[in-house]
Amino acid sequence: MKRRDFIKVAGLSAFAVATSGFELIETDGLFKTDCATSTDMLGPFFRKGAPFRNDLTFPGVTDEIPLKVVGQVFGADCKTPLKNIEIDIWHCDHKKKYDMDSASFKCRGKITTNENGEYWFKTFVPPPYGGRPKHIHYLIDGVEGYERLATQLYFKGDKKIKPNNWVKYRWDDRRILEIYKNDEDLSEVRLDLYLGKEG
Ligand SMILES: [Fe+2]
Repeated sequence: MKRRDFIKVAGLSAFAVATSGFELIETDGLFKTDCATSTDMLGPFFRKGAPFRNDLTFPGVTDEIPLKVVGQVFGADCKTPLKNIEIDIWHCDHKKKYDMDSASFKCRGKITTNENGEYWFKTFVPPPYGGRPKHIHYLIDGVEGYERLATQLYFKGDKKIKPNNWVKYRWDDRRILEIYKNDEDLSEVRLDLYLGKEG
């Protein structure tokens, strides 16, 4: 099955639909929600074993914009927050390099959602490399009952984002994010993630 949640008409909760804000589409007598976060390339630079940490910054990065990333992880009903979900995060460093072998796992970390399904991490806006837009990789794997989610976060206004180029899927505009100033006057983006049901 695709990364979509198919719901039988009889089991449909009108309230759930209204609060989630996602569209329902009828296909072959079934209604489906379409909130599951679209997947993206895992890419060749994922490394297992990154340390658990919310702060990916390190000394020596002076020219990049400091960034806080926040969000929530939801289940396939588009509204139930998922706690204790482990998320791998990685991006290139300020010199456009991925740390593939050092023990410091530079620009890599593992974070866990809290009781409300919320996550956050601090880093900096990574530079573009190899013709690709600026991006941050995400991987959520091994959650019982849910499909693996490998995806990427992009930044609104990035001229390297071209329609139907790096962005191929219907919901991908949900992953092209505006940087805003948070309460602490720090640059922040928000990416909520919706897992697809396995099976
Ligand atoms: Fe990448």
